[in-house]
Amino acid sequence: MTQVDPAKDGAEMSFEGRMSYGDYLGIDAILGAQHPRGDAHDEMLFIIQHQTSELWMRLALHELDAARVCIAQGRAREAFKMLTRIARIFEQLNSAWDVLRTMTPSEYTRFRDDLGQSSGFQSHQYRLIEFAVGNRNRAMMQPHAHRADYTERLEAELARPSLYDEALRHLHRAGLPVPEDVITRDLTQPWAAHDGVQAVWEIVYRDPETHWEAYELAEKLVDFEDYFRRWRFNHVTTVERIIGFKRGTGGTSGVQYLRKMLEVELFPELWHLRTSL
Ligand code: HEM
Repeated sequence: MTQVDPAKDGAEMSFEGRMSYGDYLGIDAILGAQHPRGDAHDEMLFIIQHQTSELWMRLALHELDAARVCIAQGRAREAFKMLTRIARIFEQLNSAWDVLRTMTPSEYTRFRDDLGQSSGFQSHQYRLIEFAVGNRNRAMMQPHAHRADYTERLEAELARPSLYDEALRHLHRAGLPVPEDVITRDLTQPWAAHDGVQAVWEIVYRDPETHWEAYELAEKLVDFEDYFRRWRFNHVTTVERIIGFKRGTGGTSGVQYLRKMLEVELFPELWHLRTSL
């Protein structure tokens, strides 16, 4: 069998005093961050599944920040690419449930008590994503009160226009009749479905050729929400498969709580207009 010597092909083989792959990526910090509390085999899967989800959420937030800046500066087309990437991140997270689904209730039970009261419910990045796209519920701040840094980031997010606010401001600047009360609304409040906004999106969808950019923006938002809904659905189905109707480690009713979350609409008018078109 021929043995390849990559050095002969020019591969860098010596990293004494030079930055290597692991140095650049902080691999030691990442691979040193798995601390199972017990000796149950499946706890490692559980930890890595959450950690990788948090890494993808970190990227989603990075993209959401930049997409909003682009839209606010009138560069919506640049934001489209970022919004596509965010939808793809959620597609990736959706596929990841297939790995977690290989864990049975018997296996989860072996380490569940070790989690204490910790739960994804306390993921500050998940709340940041929800706040960033427009699902702003102040009640969700409470589990972060013990962390001044998280609270500060969440408060800053609430004070800033959401992705949906930026999209509607963009339409307003483009001359579409977005009601003034939408532009001047209290940003910290959750979005509530607005007939005037639906009327604007209907103008766009009835004549896409004239309002192509707004039309494309709308479909990017719907695409994101579509993948996000699938994430919620995959989560609640996986949870039911693993813990049935037991209460969550975070204290909620579990599956019943998560099913309520399936009803949340991020961009309600974009869904409702489909019925009236
Ligand atoms: C064995 C696997 C899992 C189980 C049994 C589970 C269970 C639950 C339950 C019961 C809740 C409701 C809150 C509570 O009372 O704890 C919840 C919330 C949540 N979980 Fe999971 N989960 C699992 C995996 C994951 C993974 C891999 C993630 C990825 C980060 C995640 C993220 C979340 C988030 C963000 C919430 C808050 C949802 C909301 O408030 O809308 N979970 N989980």
